Amino acid sequence: MTRSFPDGFLWGVSTASYQVEGAVNEDGRVPSIWDTFAHTPGKVTGGDTSDVACDVYHRYASDIEQARQLGVGAFRFSVSWPRVMGGRVNRAGLDYYDRVVDCLCAAGIAPVVTLYHWDLPQYLQDAGGWPSRDTAYYFSDYVTAVAGTLGDRVAIWTTLNEPWCSAFLGYASGDHAPGVTNPAASLAAAHHLNLAHGLAAQAVRAVLPSARISVSLNLSAVHPVTDSPADQAAAARVERVANDIWLLPMLEGHYDQQLFADTAAITNWSFVRDGDLAQVHQPLDVLGVNYYSPTYVKARPAGEYFGPFPGCNDVEFMPPTPPLTAMGWSQEPAALTGLLTGLARGFEGLDLMVTENGAAFDDVVGQGDKVHDPARVGYLDAHINAVADAIDAGAPVKGYFLWSLLDNFEWACGYSRRFGLLRTDFTTQQRTWKDSAFWYQNVASSNRLP
Ligand code: FCB
Repeated sequence: MTRSFPDGFLWGVSTASYQVEGAVNEDGRVPSIWDTFAHTPGKVTGGDTSDVACDVYHRYASDIEQARQLGVGAFRFSVSWPRVMGGRVNRAGLDYYDRVVDCLCAAGIAPVVTLYHWDLPQYLQDAGGWPSRDTAYYFSDYVTAVAGTLGDRVAIWTTLNEPWCSAFLGYASGDHAPGVTNPAASLAAAHHLNLAHGLAAQAVRAVLPSARISVSLNLSAVHPVTDSPADQAAAARVERVANDIWLLPMLEGHYDQQLFADTAAITNWSFVRDGDLAQVHQPLDVLGVNYYSPTYVKARPAGEYFGPFPGCNDVEFMPPTPPLTAMGWSQEPAALTGLLTGLARGFEGLDLMVTENGAAFDDVVGQGDKVHDPARVGYLDAHINAVADAIDAGAPVKGYFLWSLLDNFEWACGYSRRFGLLRTDFTTQQRTWKDSAFWYQNVASSNRLP
């Protein structure tokens, strides 16, 4: 059955600066927390770093040409804060993004800019990082510089990508840069990321009054394994620290009191100052949803817990159920439909956009340089169908951005996980279209599923 999408539905691809650009020492870029982390032995699989990555810093024009051939209407990329601010504004760094935006516009592709996709300048981490309130204000200065340069050529401004990862993988479990394991600091980081979001939204609008503002959240599609009250309470607890911690302050201007109770043994939240929530609560034009895989939980006796969900020391996280992707993640497209329809019900009138979805598999290069990746095509087909189901059920989903255009540096997994539509040969920098790229080209250019 072919399935059409509404007119004007935005098909896109997503990338992020540290994962693709390389050129870490060029044109005045200063180190980021990810440079430091990746260069610390034992932090990234295979000791990989993103010093070169996909060399997009030098190859952006040909990669944008590939995106044009894919037929996408939008390209989501992130601006690297350490390229743009080395204490003061670095003109050469801004010029790079100016060229990227011009190139996208010339290709007829709408630029969607993420202002923070995890590459905090190392000098700001040295000054305290996200647990320090000042970082939110430094972010706003940086955003003012970017908005002033890229101006009204940018369709959508996304303040933060997945602040849950920045706060809790970065400062609680330590799986991501800066690799800190301090739950109290991670909750302060979460609040300062919320504050940064609100300040950034205001900074963009001060320069560009009609700018469309969004944020991309990796909301947990969390389910209790049984409907027992204890398991339901476990799921609700996860939802509070994974989802509500961002959604409520950003969209409604408050935190859930129960979140404070859940985390009372960790912090008293004194870092939330009078007036902060009004700063965080800014009009949002689009909510970006990044979805890969669901989470199943059940209750357990309270015990030690060092993971990325502070306050969830009485929750057991269930192992994923096969078939798994190469990330070890389970595949459940219906959970994406549930997430989108739930948001539509909970926040009426708010436009939604899937800003990341995709899958890593162990691709094999076959004869004639072909990459047959039926598992990825199957994943994408099922998940885009799940988006169509949500639209049919009335959810205002306005676009879908596939992660990712290219195989790239997959954070703590380095180059061992491939998410791209285009295969990257990290030795020659050659790009090869996988079967999934041809498949997505058909979807994006026809605005329908085959
Ligand atoms: C998301 C990140 C993105 C990418 C995908 C696979 O959490 O936002 O950069 O790594 O996962």
